[in-house]
Amino acid sequence: MRILVTGPRGFVGARIIRALDGAVPAPSLRHAREDDVKRLVDETEPDVIVHTAAISDIRACAADPEASYRANVALPLMLAKTGVKSVLLSTDQVYSGCAGEGPYAEGDAVPANLYAEHKLEMEKRVLDVNPDAVLLRATWMYDMPLYGVPNRWNFLVGMLRERALAFSGTSHRAVSYVREVAARMEQAVALPGGVYNYGSESDMTMLEIARWLAEELKLDVRLSDAGPEHNLWMDCSKLKRQGIAFNDTLDALRQCIRDYSL
Ligand SMILES: NC(=O)c1ccc[n+]([C@@H]2O[C@H](COP(=O)([O-])OP(=O)(O)OC[C@H]3O[C@@H](n4cnc5c(N)ncnc54)[C@H](OP(=O)(O)O)[C@@H]3O)[C@@H](O)[C@H]2O)c1
Repeated sequence: MRILVTGPRGFVGARIIRALDGAVPAPSLRHAREDDVKRLVDETEPDVIVHTAAISDIRACAADPEASYRANVALPLMLAKTGVKSVLLSTDQVYSGCAGEGPYAEGDAVPANLYAEHKLEMEKRVLDVNPDAVLLRATWMYDMPLYGVPNRWNFLVGMLRERALAFSGTSHRAVSYVREVAARMEQAVALPGGVYNYGSESDMTMLEIARWLAEELKLDVRLSDAGPEHNLWMDCSKLKRQGIAFNDTLDALRQCIRDYSL
């Protein structure tokens, strides 16, 4: 199976391209128009597209709404319009404005920032055009740096490098090991069309997870409470019913610790 992967030099795409048999890296699509996307698909003839290219930084989206819309709504729509089976990354940020405490199921989404608004609009419009598309709402992901790939600050790297960090002591959310996210992509490609919460689950706060990791690795990092933040706590039972079950957040961190002999 030929799988065209967009964003192959990005944090998630670089892991997916290494994990998926038959993965073909797409060129940068930053300035692509609809014709360019069609031509790319005609030339590469993929069975599936895995779309990771995006502006994934909340502050960058808020600073340039037009660029955010282009990257996070218009570009995925161009790919959806090709009619090829597509798997597209979305985000747990779509739950950032929910009224209840969670855990949130797929129908609960209420975004509270522009990045999440654009991702939610993207999900709906992509499914309108291509009901077979698979939209994966991912949690915050971590890994050690990868050779040859620009490093992205993430939970694990921050915990290992910084002397002081603040995380919310009230916000319940999970973090996921990006290598597990990539390893499960082969199964994700076979999912029926729709939206799925996709990643590790956890009923802990970010501060509790950080304290656990600091204790586990005997890290010299001073952890403090960043104050109240909205829960981004996802219920992944829809995904589990389809046979994809992630390790929970602490088990995934334990796996990562073993993988890197940390
Ligand atoms: N990282 C996380 O923790 C996280 C959490 C939840 C959801 N996600 C979602 O997962 C996906 C992948 O995230 P990531 O962390 O791998 O992202 P990333 O590393 O920030 O970016 C991925 C790639 O997107 C391309 N890109 C950047 N700006 C673009 C633009 N204006 N237009 C088109 N393409 C652009 C770049 O590829 P080129 O240089 O080749 O153009 C980049 O390598 C995104 O959809 C993101 O929203 C990520």
